[in-house]
Amino acid sequence: MTEKHLLKVPQHVAIIMDGNGRWARQQSLSRLEGHKRGSEVARDIVTAASRIGISYLTLYAFSSENWRRDPNEVSGLMALLKHYLETEATELNKEGARLKIIGERSLLPNTILNLIEEVEDLTKTNKKIILQMAISYGSRAEIIHAVQHIAEKVRDHRLDPNKITEQVFEEHLYTAGVPDPDLLIRTSGEQRISNYLLWQVAYTELVFVDKFWPDFTPEDFMEALLTYQNRERRFGTAA
Ligand code: FPP
Repeated sequence: MTEKHLLKVPQHVAIIMDGNGRWARQQSLSRLEGHKRGSEVARDIVTAASRIGISYLTLYAFSSENWRRDPNEVSGLMALLKHYLETEATELNKEGARLKIIGERSLLPNTILNLIEEVEDLTKTNKKIILQMAISYGSRAEIIHAVQHIAEKVRDHRLDPNKITEQVFEEHLYTAGVPDPDLLIRTSGEQRISNYLLWQVAYTELVFVDKFWPDFTPEDFMEALLTYQNRERRFGTAA
């Protein structure tokens, strides 16, 4: 299948890159080998998304809950993120991609934080595609964070409670300024949202793919886009 088969390209695609661990076990490799392979697949999908003309891609790279994994796996994932940021910064910039991190930054090690800020700064004027990487991200924490900011504004008489609309609320999320995902893809056969973009996926089309993330190819990505294309979106209106 080629890109020309796509008539309706989603503006924003979000992905839960699941199944690295199970893929690794299947191949008798370490979990970290699975994540490493997963990061290579992520790179290929970013390139494919940019070429297809998708404007926003949001990848779930590390959840708030992932901090509770074995310390070796956590430090391995952090090292992989560092490596990804170091090696991909120039390429992302060349592709016209802007990197934005969503998540609880204060929990990240300083080395990663500094690197994130560097790459965000380097790519901040790029417009071809916005790559949102969810790192140390949990949607409920994001919502609480937004509520705290709104409550502070109300307390300081900078915001009238009657003026809190959906739009005002969205402006306080990490994803402020980014349209909601049109399509969410989760690999590995699991059919859950797992605390990912809970507010933002209210009307998103969900596509679940059985393959583990390290086996996911640009062709599988196209297949998911085609499934999306054939769905009718009604946003709560009558059929
Ligand atoms: C789920 O697999 C995946 C993650 C916890 C993190 C996703 C991370 C990557 C793809 C690598 C880092 C990404 C970049 C872009 C540097 P799992 O470990 O939950 O798999 P399992 O459910 O099979 O155990």
